[in-house]
Amino acid sequence: MQKMIGKAKRLEGSITVPGDKSISHRAGMLAAIALGTTRIRNFSASEDCGSTLECLAALGVDITRSGSDVVITGRPDGFDAPAAEFDCGNSGTTMRLMAGLLAGLGIEATLTGDASLRSRPMGRIIGPLKKMGALIESSEGKAPLRLVGGRKLDGTEYELPVASAQVKSCLLLAGLNAEGSTTVIERTPTRDHTERMLRGFGVDVEISDHDGGRRISVRGGSRLKAVDLTVPGDVSSAAFFLAAAAILPGSDVIIRDVGLNPTRSAILDVLKAYGGDLQITNERISGGEPIGDIRVRSEGVPARPDGYIVSGEMVANLIDELPILAVLGALSDGGLEVRDAGELRVKESDRIASIVTNLRAMGADIEEFEDGFRVEESELKGGRVDSFGDHRIAMAFAVAALAAEGETTIENAECAAVSFPDFFSVLASITG
Ligand code: S3P
Repeated sequence: MQKMIGKAKRLEGSITVPGDKSISHRAGMLAAIALGTTRIRNFSASEDCGSTLECLAALGVDITRSGSDVVITGRPDGFDAPAAEFDCGNSGTTMRLMAGLLAGLGIEATLTGDASLRSRPMGRIIGPLKKMGALIESSEGKAPLRLVGGRKLDGTEYELPVASAQVKSCLLLAGLNAEGSTTVIERTPTRDHTERMLRGFGVDVEISDHDGGRRISVRGGSRLKAVDLTVPGDVSSAAFFLAAAAILPGSDVIIRDVGLNPTRSAILDVLKAYGGDLQITNERISGGEPIGDIRVRSEGVPARPDGYIVSGEMVANLIDELPILAVLGALSDGGLEVRDAGELRVKESDRIASIVTNLRAMGADIEEFEDGFRVEESELKGGRVDSFGDHRIAMAFAVAALAAEGETTIENAECAAVSFPDFFSVLASITG
């Protein structure tokens, strides 16, 4: 699908965004192994979370979905052996977390996905799972992954070589059924939804400080109990509207019920650093996570004349927001530099290349580095850009189009549905 978007004056209105993708994946998986029936409200509408539910259904888990309500009856005593391959679609979280869950349970399974997912590195989970005793066949560390069944895993202590919540969560899920305890050490804190949700389902998770990072442990044989939970709105989806409102002077947008987990909310601090007027109201806890309503208003263009650099420990907290921040940087007084973000090269697309190619096509002054980019304040003009099959690139460039002179065509824009099926209609509803 091609999407044509013209220049906009301002954004105004009150919206909600789909339930958080990371939290929805975890809620589905934990409900599937819990004793009893879990009710999940505001489950993410994303195709990615649909992939997780399909994998769980293929394991014989009873799932009823009606709108954004999902009801799951767990199988604490084990799953059916899956008949066919699991298709994880475009979803790295589905593949990496399911691999941990299934390896821990000793289930024979093959996990595969689309061309993008089959090109992404899986060695980062294969290595530590093998250390725990799993047998996994792959083609040079890429999917399809074939998990050999019937293996009982041993707990382990593992320090993450890359800051990755998916790898951390994979190992914690495997550890739930391993012999003894499993400890993951992370030097840089990553999103902690798995730890919070495991506790919500009654698992004893030990967390302690470790040299500026964290040590997280679970014990094998932990039993989970069903819960009722409401998933917060996805702050990474909200980020596109927050940035768009900050970029278009005169905007006034309210996004209700957004997740404000401190391991995910650095985007709000960056927008404030560029002069954005952000107000958070109605703060509360939902499903073990902080949430609230965010109002953003803008008077003039975002400005940080002395420059702004995203690097080091900040990167993990902003990892999914870097495409939209690149667009914000191109439209800001002072520009933006991103460093230490080599992980962007192994996301749904090579996001550094996708950002640089598209921003250049729109006339931006941008320099590419192996681990990031530097973009200067630029006059963007409409042109032809590509999503490169990457949902966050499609949505980031829809926002760029709102601020560019003339019309912009986004090729392959349909992939926005990977995280946000109604993105373009929600955007249109507040565009003036
Ligand atoms: C996610 C972790 C991050 C993030 C992804 C979702 C998760 O990936 O980019 O969109 O739900 O745990 P990494 O673990 O590869 O950093």
